[in-house]
Amino acid sequence: MTALRRLAILGATGSIGTSTLEVVEAHPDKLAVVALAGGRNRDLLRDQCERFRPTCVSVAQAEDAAWLTSHLSYHPEIHHGAEGLLACALHPDADTVVAAVVGAAGLASTEAALRAGRRVCVANKESLVVGGPLMLKALREGGGELLPIDSEHAALHQLLAGRVPTSIREVRITASGGPFREWSRARIQAATVAEALNHPTWKMGPKITIDSATLMNKGLEVIEAALLFDLSAEQIQVTIHPQSQVHAMAGFTDGTYQLQVCANDMKLPIQYALLWPERLNGPVPPYDWDLARTWTFDAPDLDRFPCLALAYAALRTGGTAPAILNAANETAVAAFLEDRIPFGAIAACNADALAAHPAPPVENLEQVLDLDRQTRVWADAWLVARG
Ligand SMILES: NC(=O)c1ccc[n+]([C@@H]2O[C@H](COP(=O)([O-])OP(=O)(O)OC[C@H]3O[C@@H](n4cnc5c(N)ncnc54)[C@H](OP(=O)(O)O)[C@@H]3O)[C@@H](O)[C@H]2O)c1
Repeated sequence: MTALRRLAILGATGSIGTSTLEVVEAHPDKLAVVALAGGRNRDLLRDQCERFRPTCVSVAQAEDAAWLTSHLSYHPEIHHGAEGLLACALHPDADTVVAAVVGAAGLASTEAALRAGRRVCVANKESLVVGGPLMLKALREGGGELLPIDSEHAALHQLLAGRVPTSIREVRITASGGPFREWSRARIQAATVAEALNHPTWKMGPKITIDSATLMNKGLEVIEAALLFDLSAEQIQVTIHPQSQVHAMAGFTDGTYQLQVCANDMKLPIQYALLWPERLNGPVPPYDWDLARTWTFDAPDLDRFPCLALAYAALRTGGTAPAILNAANETAVAAFLEDRIPFGAIAACNADALAAHPAPPVENLEQVLDLDRQTRVWADAWLVARG
C-alpha cells in the first residue's frame, strides 16, 4: 500500500492537468494536492484552488498572480513565471510532481524536480526531448523516480519493467495517424487549423493535437522512448493503429510480442504513474474486448508525414539535434495555430532547422535553453521569409 502522495501539478489548467485532478478526486485517500501551477487561465486555476486548497500556487504572469491574490477565499503562497513553476516543483511538502506544462517551458522545472529526488510523472515530453541527458543525470543524482504519463510510454513501462535489456529486440509504439491519415500529400500541405485540430481519437491541448496531425508527436515520442528505455532508433518502430486501443508492443529476442491494451483515456496512464506500483480501481470501465474486432495496424507513410522521419534523423544525430528540432517545431506550430503559415511549412521549417544547425553534445541546462531561444529566433525569421 502506498502512503498518501502529495502532488505538485505543473500545467494544472491544461488537458493533462485537469485529468490529473479527476484522478485525485477519485482517490482522496491516496492523493492530495499541495501545489498547482497554471499559465494564463486564471479563472480555471482559481476554481481549482478553491476546490483543492493547494498551499502553493503559480501563474505565468505577475498581473495574474495579483488578480489571484484578491480573488481567492484563502491565502496560499502565490508565485509567477519560471520561478513560480520552480517554487511549486520544489515545494517541501510535495513528494510527487506532475510535469504537464506544454513545450520547452517545462524544461527547468522538470529537471529541478528530478534533481530534488521527487517522483516526477512526466507528460511534458518536450523536456525529455530537449534536455534528455540532463534529465537522466538529474534523476541519477537526485535519486528520485521518473514515470512517463504519455500513454505509449506508460504502456512500455508496464511491458518492460524488470526485463533483462538483452531480451528486448524492439518496441512498437502506436499512432492513431491523426486526422490526415488518409489524405494525399497535397491536401495535407494545405490543411486548415480547424482540420488539423479535429483529432479522431484523443482530446488534447492544441499544440500536441497539431503535432499528432504532422506525426511530429510520434517522432517526439520515439526520441522519448529511446531516452526512457535506453533503446536505439532501430529498436523503436511506429505502427499506425487508428483505434488507439493498443498503445505499445514489446518484441523479445525469441520472437514473442506482448501488447498493452486499454481505453484511450489519459486518466489511465496518469493514475498508473501516480500510484505505481499499486493498481487501484480504474478511472474508466475495464477494456471492452468487443472493440478488439476493429483493430488494424499499418506502417506510417514517411513521405506524407516527413516530421516522423526528421525525428528519427535527430535521434540518430544525437547531441542537441532533438532540441533544435523541438524549438523549430514549437515555433512553427504556434505560427500555424495563429494562421500565419500553411500546414506544410511546419515540416519544411523543421527540416531546414535541422540542416542549418550543428548538434554539439548536450552539456548543461543553460546551453540547451540558450540554443532553444536561438533556434526560435532562427525559425521565426525562416517562417517570415519562407512560411
Ligand atoms: N493531452 C494529452 O492527452 C497528452 C497526452 C500525452 C502527453 N501530453 C503532453 O503533456 C503536455 C501538456 O499537454 P496538454 O495537452 O495538457 O496541453 P494544454 O492543454 O495546452 O495545457 C498546457 C498547460 O501548460 C500551461 N502552460 C503553458 N505555458 C506555460 C508557461 N509558460 N508557464 C506555466 N504554465 C504554462 C497551460 O496553462 P494555461 O492553459 O493556464 O495557459 C496549461 O496548464 C504536453 O507536453 C503534451 O505533449 C499530453
